[in-house]
Amino acid sequence: MLGVCYYPEHWSEDLWASDAADMKALGLTYVRIGEFSWSRIEPARGEYNFDWLDRAINILAEAGLKIVFGTPTATPPKWLVDEHPDILPVDPHKGEPRGFGSRRHYDFSSQTYIAEALRITDILTKRYGAHGSIVGWQTDNEFCCHDTARSGSASAKKGFQQWCKERYGTIDALNKAWGNVFWSMEYASFDAVELPIGAVTETNPAHRLAYNRYSSDRVIEFQSRMIAVIRENAPGKWITHNFIPKEDLSVDPFGLGAELDIASYDNYPLGRTDMAFRDAPADVMKRYMRTGHPDFSSFYHDTTRSFAGGGYWVMEQQPGPVNWAPHNPRPAPGMVRLWSWEAFAHGASCVSYFRWRQVPIAQEQMHAGLRRPDNSKADAWAEVEKVKSELATLGIDQQSKHKSDVAIITDVHALWVTEIQQQGAGYDFTKLEFAYYSALRQLGIDVDFISQGADFDDYKLVIAPCLPIINDEFIARCDKSNAHFIFGPRSGSKTDEFSIPATLAPGSLQSRLPVKILSVETLRSDCPVPLNWKGEAFQAHSWCEETETSEDKNVIATYGDGKAAIVGDGRTTYIGTITDGAFLKEFFKDKCESLSINSIDLPEDMRLCQRGDLTFAFNYSSDAQLAPAVQDADFLIGRRMVGGHDLSVWRRPNIRLNNP
Ligand code: GAL
Repeated sequence: MLGVCYYPEHWSEDLWASDAADMKALGLTYVRIGEFSWSRIEPARGEYNFDWLDRAINILAEAGLKIVFGTPTATPPKWLVDEHPDILPVDPHKGEPRGFGSRRHYDFSSQTYIAEALRITDILTKRYGAHGSIVGWQTDNEFCCHDTARSGSASAKKGFQQWCKERYGTIDALNKAWGNVFWSMEYASFDAVELPIGAVTETNPAHRLAYNRYSSDRVIEFQSRMIAVIRENAPGKWITHNFIPKEDLSVDPFGLGAELDIASYDNYPLGRTDMAFRDAPADVMKRYMRTGHPDFSSFYHDTTRSFAGGGYWVMEQQPGPVNWAPHNPRPAPGMVRLWSWEAFAHGASCVSYFRWRQVPIAQEQMHAGLRRPDNSKADAWAEVEKVKSELATLGIDQQSKHKSDVAIITDVHALWVTEIQQQGAGYDFTKLEFAYYSALRQLGIDVDFISQGADFDDYKLVIAPCLPIINDEFIARCDKSNAHFIFGPRSGSKTDEFSIPATLAPGSLQSRLPVKILSVETLRSDCPVPLNWKGEAFQAHSWCEETETSEDKNVIATYGDGKAAIVGDGRTTYIGTITDGAFLKEFFKDKCESLSINSIDLPEDMRLCQRGDLTFAFNYSSDAQLAPAVQDADFLIGRRMVGGHDLSVWRRPNIRLNNP
């Protein structure tokens, strides 16, 4: 199914009926509305203006569209901010208030704001909860975008003190847990506990970890209370939230997804690639600036798909140049269609484009839509038409996304620990996780992301690129499973309260593998050292652990000086360094072979994905490339030779296991 994000309040009412008819004619099923409309719904306290909204909803409904309603809580109106300036968040880095004039200007710790957000949600869901055409609700919009998970406000401080009291019980326990004897940081009471903001130099990492945990809990609680209101007033309707990339969210995404019916993601491959690859050489950027990196969208599709148990949408899909990245190129012709199909292949049941029409006013006037401001059809239009006709032939809804053989454990604590204590400027948790994912994808392997608390039973290979905090219960679950586990550097390196385990890293992992990290050195990423594996030379860079093992037979790869860099046995592998991509690909290929997991050397910039009995090949290259389909493959879209920026779909069996 396809959908679109629409803002009736931005347009003259004369356009609404033709817009709705055009949406329907384009083949759209869903339209998302409402998420920034508070000032039009309630222009002054208690003064409601529903007439326009009733009319807009009815026009969309009469055209046969299904509506997703976003609660408008990401944009509290000016009168509310003037009435209660304390709802504004305080910048957690500078300690200064963040003002009105854009969006997300609220504090998750403000009881006043929580009450107001629940009040407007209650009013809206009471009014529209039973409306037959409003089929689902979106909570707020992109929680924590623009770095808003944390606030340094007085209410955050009060909330944090209370949270600490509940977590630690006594102030002595808190002082001990955080190691506050260091630099005389001890507190005499919970009322004295500060937020880790504005100190002269680095604050205690344990303190910062606690503040992140507190802030994450507040976001989850805010949404949970909103969900309770929606469920009460709109029974039977599904609830979603449109997630941003998890590293920007900086909240436990599994916690945030736990009460949702489906997860959704806002997919802006070019804007995100421009930001993530800002340090990449120009020739790499030129290759991907109009397509996005071939693993970039799917990295987020596969992660977000796991947050709410598998149900998954793309709520916002980039249709042309955006306005918010340092550079905003135009997508290569064909990419809007390719991205849409890629989302479906990775499990989405709907792709909804952002936005219907480019708006000539305000902050996003340079952001493309499916239509231009003069209502002419923008470049993406024809591609969406094509997706619509292909969808009709493929029956994607009947194909369910099966579980993969390989899972990556992703964990917000890993992000927090490594951000708080980076230790080397070259260390970047997301880049590391992405490198592991990308190496697997280059081998044609489908990947599920799972939480640390997941059930590992059905997987043959479980990989944790970095998992610093590991407890015994986790190890017990690993021990129960037959999967092989690969752990990346820093795994098991911290206790739950951010100190070094008594037996050194990797802490509890030592019960699975006799290994001890004696020291860590960090290097510039452009000053690598040799990494030798199976007689071949690769590179280690940025982060190199001195890895001691009592069993010489467990040494798998060594640094240039002959010391162990990677150790392992039949059940567990521990990688004590950051390696180059070539190593990861070869290493995973070897591991998959030993675990009977199918893999293939894909042509560069081609990716495969399975959904049900369909195999998709996506060609991110501008040149045509051969898809590795079996000889008698039944092609439903495209053919064996996949054009540049094009795709093919065939029924399984999918790939030749031996390269042609
Ligand atoms: C998203 C956001 C939308 C719009 C869009 C522009 O992050 O949810 O409201 O701002 O970006 O690309």
